[in-house]
Amino acid sequence: MMSKALIPLAVSAIVFFCLAMSFAQEDHARLDNYVFEKPAMPPALFDHDAHNEKAGIDDCAICHHVIENGKLSEFETSEDRPCVECHGLSPSAENAIALRRAYHLRCKGCHLDRESGPIMCGGCHSRGV
Ligand code: HEC
Ligand code: HEC
Ligand code: HEC
Ligand code: HEC
Repeated sequence: MMSKALIPLAVSAIVFFCLAMSFAQEDHARLDNYVFEKPAMPPALFDHDAHNEKAGIDDCAICHHVIENGKLSEFETSEDRPCVECHGLSPSAENAIALRRAYHLRCKGCHLDRESGPIMCGGCHSRGV
């Protein structure tokens, strides 16, 4: 049996836990920027499924592409491989488009094309939640 004196303590612990959980859920999803050695910016906001649903994107290859002989493969996609596997931190002989540029071209490029979605630095690399 819990002593009566401990009940308020237990109740406030539960309330605190619930509040903490609801704040955690409101924190916006971001990309993992671990591959950049000393990131200069906060990781970009990107709530994968919610973003793609809102933007009406259902073709995975728009982002997870496979390019062969300079052409987008019609059959293969690369969602099982991180972008950095093909796009190194600096341009290389195998791939002229370094990772940061690949992201900016893809993400900002579409936002510019569609005139929708953030194009200012802080719209993606926002500070705080
Ligand atoms: C449409 C979204 C978007 C916008 C707008 C954007 N970025 Fe990024 N940026 C990304 C993504 C995605 C990455 C790679 C993942 C990450 O770093 O979170 C990235 C990576 C970077 C990186 C390499 C990682 C690091 O933190 O050092 C730098 C530097 C950077 N961006 C600077 C900028 C600057 C400066 C601007 C404004 C001129 C800008 N970005 C605008 C999405 C964006
Ligand atoms: C608007 C761009 C975009 C579209 C469209 C997109 N993804 Fe992604 N996805 C990403 C980015 C960016 C990452 C992180 C890649 C990295 O870390 O290198 C990612 C990561 C993933 C991962 C890795 C899992 C994880 O959490 O690390 C899977 C699986 C995945 N996507 C599946 C899909 C599937 C399936 C579709 C199509 C239904 C899809 N994606 C459409 C951008 C996109
Ligand atoms: C399986 C390897 C591979 C993966 C994984 C990959 N790419 Fe690429 N990507 C390429 C190749 C190859 C090119 C052509 C590079 C060149 O022209 O030198 C390219 C070109 C690009 C380009 C410029 C051409 C275009 O389509 O607009 C962008 C932008 C790009 N990639 C973004 C991304 C992003 C973002 C991711 C992760 C979500 C990603 N790529 C994952 C191989 C890959
Ligand atoms: C093919 C087009 C396309 C691509 C690629 C794309 N976006 Fe978007 N994005 C949109 C559109 C459209 C919206 C506006 C959706 C709305 O609010 O109706 C949007 C909105 C956003 C927002 C605002 C919050 C939200 O989820 O609505 C962020 C942040 C964002 N995009 C980040 C990114 C990042 C980071 C990438 C690259 C990994 C990316 N986007 C790639 C089309 C795209």
